[in-house]
Amino acid sequence: MEKVITYGTFDLLHWGHIRLLERARALGDHLTVVLSTDEFNKLKGKEAFHNFEQRKYLLEAIKHVDVVIPETAWDQKITDIQSNEINIFVMGDDWEGQFDFLTPYCDVCYLERTKDISTTYIKEQLAQA
Ligand code: CTP
Repeated sequence: MEKVITYGTFDLLHWGHIRLLERARALGDHLTVVLSTDEFNKLKGKEAFHNFEQRKYLLEAIKHVDVVIPETAWDQKITDIQSNEINIFVMGDDWEGQFDFLTPYCDVCYLERTKDISTTYIKEQLAQA
């Protein structure tokens, strides 16, 4: 079984997120999503509109997602890959090159971002409405 992992905040879930999850899952047979907790988002200088439990609930309802686990630190990736026996690490290409250091542990794949949509864009549009 090929196991895939991806990371993110996935706030105000949109079709760019779904397309990323769909293509990530299609690379293997099982997809783990590592979802940033509210505390970790604070460390990153981000504040999600939906809290961790709400974002987790939405992700778990998506057919491409097999399991959702928390992301609490930058340095947990190698442990996550090893303990979950992951074969492929996936991120959008806004992160191109930044996770190449994981190649001794699994394949690293950057998928093209979907154009013209992001959580930031939705928030900006709603603020102007
Ligand atoms: N993603 C994507 N296409 C988009 C938006 C996001 O493929 N249009 C991917 C990102 O590259 C990442 C994952 O979805 O691998 C989760 O991204 P996240 O940062 O949670 O979503 P964004 O919409 O990019 O949020 P923000 O605007 O806050 O950065």
